[in-house]
Amino acid sequence: MHDYQAPEGLLKDKVILVTGASDGIGRAAAIEYARLGASVILLARDQNKLAQVYDGIEELNAPQPAMIPLDLAIAGPEQYQMLAGMIEREFGHLDGILHNAALLGPITPLEQYEDGTWDQVMAVNLRAPFLLTQALLPLLRKADHASVIFTSSSVGRVGRAYWGAYAVSKAGLESLCQIWAQELGQLTRIRFNCINPGATRTAMRKNAYPAENPENLRRPEAILGLYTYLMGADSLHVQGLSLDAQPDL
Ligand SMILES: NC(=O)c1ccc[n+]([C@@H]2O[C@H](COP(=O)([O-])OP(=O)(O)OC[C@H]3O[C@@H](n4cnc5c(N)ncnc54)[C@H](OP(=O)(O)O)[C@@H]3O)[C@@H](O)[C@H]2O)c1
Repeated sequence: MHDYQAPEGLLKDKVILVTGASDGIGRAAAIEYARLGASVILLARDQNKLAQVYDGIEELNAPQPAMIPLDLAIAGPEQYQMLAGMIEREFGHLDGILHNAALLGPITPLEQYEDGTWDQVMAVNLRAPFLLTQALLPLLRKADHASVIFTSSSVGRVGRAYWGAYAVSKAGLESLCQIWAQELGQLTRIRFNCINPGATRTAMRKNAYPAENPENLRRPEAILGLYTYLMGADSLHVQGLSLDAQPDL
């Protein structure tokens, strides 16, 4: 699955929301989904960076994307309902969500972890994927088949000292994904799965490991096999799993 080669047109006529689409893995995945034929809805805070991704997609002659500048740390059910309304008007349905946006927060002992920072990290990494999925369910139900992907981490599988709210939020995402899959997997045509990208050359990784040589890490563009596999029709039977984009690490 991690070495999946997506056939041309895999995501033709699909509508896919990507959070954290302005940088790193989310940007690469959004561009790849668009290249494979999807109309991509790009969500992040930084409008300028989003606009660059938007322009890059237009240059591919891919379907016209949409841009949603939104801060997931402060957004709540009202904003997500407005987003659902916008997607309904523009596209009529939704075929996929890649929940990818995340905050790292400080690498620090729990004893010193500040409550405000804790809340912010949990809001972006766990509360937003929960509320966004909830708000967008009616649109996902309208799709022939829909795929919701949550982005986990190795520290979400087993807790790691000093990774604080980030690790707890990723463990929560694993659980959230399993619960959605159990509750709706049999009743709907929506599948819910987690991806652990593994060490990847991005700004977040640089923040977490400043002394590491980024040249030793794969670029986001090189780890997308699993991202395209789980979004397309070849994975219709895959439900409630947590998978590695780089199982060789
Ligand atoms: N890179 C790795 O080695 C690695 C390893 C394991 C897991 N992951 C996971 O993979 C995913 C992508 O990570 P990455 O390394 O690509 O990170 P990144 O380069 O730091 O990108 C993070 C993205 O999230 C967006 N974002 C952050 N805070 C946001 C907020 N409050 N509201 C909306 N958007 C927000 C950022 O956009 P704006 O700044 O424009 O808002 C950016 O587009 C994350 O879930 C991360 O936890 C990464």
